Amino acid sequence: MSEIKTVGVIGAGTMGNGIAHVFARSGFTVRLCEVEQRFLDRGLDTIRKNLGREAEKAKITQAEADAALKRIHGTLDRSSLSVCDFVVEAATERFDIKREIFRDLDRIAGPDVILASNTSSISITRLAAQTQRPERVIGMHFFNPVPVMRLVEVIRGLATSQETYDAVSDLAEKLGKTPVEVNDAPGFVSNRVLMPLLNEAMYAVMEGVATPEAVDEVFKLGMAHPMGPLTLADFIGLDVCLDIMRVLHEGLGDPKYRPCPLLIRMVDAGWLGRKSGRGFYEYGS
Ligand SMILES: NC(=O)c1ccc[n+]([C@@H]2O[C@H](COP(=O)([O-])OP(=O)(O)OC[C@H]3O[C@@H](n4cnc5c(N)ncnc54)[C@H](O)[C@@H]3O)[C@@H](O)[C@H]2O)c1
Repeated sequence: MSEIKTVGVIGAGTMGNGIAHVFARSGFTVRLCEVEQRFLDRGLDTIRKNLGREAEKAKITQAEADAALKRIHGTLDRSSLSVCDFVVEAATERFDIKREIFRDLDRIAGPDVILASNTSSISITRLAAQTQRPERVIGMHFFNPVPVMRLVEVIRGLATSQETYDAVSDLAEKLGKTPVEVNDAPGFVSNRVLMPLLNEAMYAVMEGVATPEAVDEVFKLGMAHPMGPLTLADFIGLDVCLDIMRVLHEGLGDPKYRPCPLLIRMVDAGWLGRKSGRGFYEYGS
C-alpha cells in the first residue's frame, strides 16, 4: 500500500467540509467532490471561515490556514479522484446514493486504494459488497463538528483486512484524532447507545413525565452532559434521529428501539430541530 498523500472526499456538506478541513490542516492534498457547484462553493466557504476562526483563536497561524485552504481542490468530476491514495465518502445518508458512489469509486480508484465511508448507520459490509475490494472498505466515522471532536469510530466490515484497519487507524492519528475500533453492527457503538437515550428522553416528554427543559437540566446538572438530550436531538436533526432509530429497530429487531411516536409526529410536522427553526425548542432565524 503506497503512502497516503492525496485524499478524496465525497460530499461537501456538514461532515464532508469538516473532513476536508482536517485532512488539509494535517498536510494532505484534498480533492473535494460534489454534485453541484453551489454545494461545493458553500462547503469551501465554510472551510475558509472555519480555518479563519482557528487562526483568529491562534490554534493555527494565518499562513497555515492559507496553506491548508490551497491544498483543497474542489471538483464536480468524480473521475478526477483517480489520483487519490485514499477516499472517504460523506454524501447524503441514503443507501442508493452510497451504492452508486462505491460502485463507481471501485472503478475509478487504483486497486490498492482504501475506500472509507463516514456513514452513521448504513452497513459497512453492505457497502463493501458493492465493490471488488471488500477487504479495503471500512467505516471512518467522524463526529460533528469534525475539526473539534477527537473521536473517529473505525468500523470493520465483515471482510475488512487488518492492513486496512491499521492504515485508517494510523490516518486518524495523523489527523490528531483518537481512533476507536468497532465492528459493523446497526448504529455501531455511538448511535446504538446515544439514540435510545434521546428516544427515551422523548418518551418522557410525550408521557408528561417532565418538560424538555427539565429533562435537559437533569442530564446537564446530574450527569455533567454539556448539552441535554433534547437539545442534542434538535442539534442533530429530528429527521436524522428518526432515521437512525428506524435502522436500529429494523436491524436489531428488538422492540426496545421503537421510535418514539412524538418524534414521528414532529418529523411529520416538519419540526426537524434547529435547522427548521422548531423542534423541542424554538430557534430564532
Ligand atoms: N451530521 C452529522 O452530525 C453526522 C455525523 C457523523 C456522520 N454523518 C454522516 O455523514 C454523511 C454526510 O452527512 P452530512 O450531515 O454532512 O450531510 P449533508 O446533507 O450536510 O451533506 C451531504 C452532501 O453530500 C452531497 N452529495 C449527495 N450525493 C452526492 C454524490 N453522489 N457525490 C458527491 N456529493 C454528493 C450533497 O450535495 C450534500 O452537500 C452521512 O452519511 C451521515 O450519516 C453525519
